[in-house]
Amino acid sequence: MELTEAVLTRRSQQQLTDPAPDDEQFTRLLRTASAAPDHGRLRPWRWVLLRGGQRARLGRALAAAGADDAQARAALKPLRAPLLASIVFVPRQNTKVPRWEQLAATAALVHCLELLLHDHGWGSIWRTGHGLESPAVHDALRIRPGEQLLGWLYIGTPHPHRSTAPKPVRDVHDTITRLGASIESSAA
Ligand SMILES: Cc1cc2nc3c(=O)[nH]c(=O)nc-3n(C[C@H](O)[C@H](O)[C@H](O)COP(=O)(O)O)c2cc1C
Repeated sequence: MELTEAVLTRRSQQQLTDPAPDDEQFTRLLRTASAAPDHGRLRPWRWVLLRGGQRARLGRALAAAGADDAQARAALKPLRAPLLASIVFVPRQNTKVPRWEQLAATAALVHCLELLLHDHGWGSIWRTGHGLESPAVHDALRIRPGEQLLGWLYIGTPHPHRSTAPKPVRDVHDTITRLGASIESSAA
């Protein structure tokens, strides 16, 4: 798949079924994705992979974190894909690279991984929602002090009848500013 085609045809997949990449396949794709821009090469992230019954354990933690009427639904949410890759931001402290840059690098990595998954025929969606700061969820995932849970990449096989049409791209002209000649001459 060409890069432009991959960018335009990747879609967040709401419906994901078996199979999902195994640990070795996931690791291989993550290794490639880690070539994403990362100021200081800090790798300020780690992943907690959940499969099978481990997803139900997360569901119970999400239910504990939710409002009463939403508990049953929250418990089922992690079952929507065979593999949940929890995205854990691990900001490095002894560095001049600010926290926001480390967060930007982590988001770049995640998107790179989504593109690679798509390129290899897998589907994914980055999900967040309530529960990211819940002690019950942190406990279930063994999130350590100083770390931040950024959500989960739900990963699996996309629905066969999903839309594969390239995404309509939006006009971006109004987001681009060119500095005028007066600014150029005053800077000279
Ligand atoms: C940081 C982040 C958090 C997201 N959280 C959710 C979420 O909680 N639930 C959801 O359905 N989609 C979530 N998404 C997916 C977006 O809804 C999706 O990317 C957007 O609708 C555009 O669709 P596309 O990925 O197919 O282009 C998230 C995406 C990002 C980047």
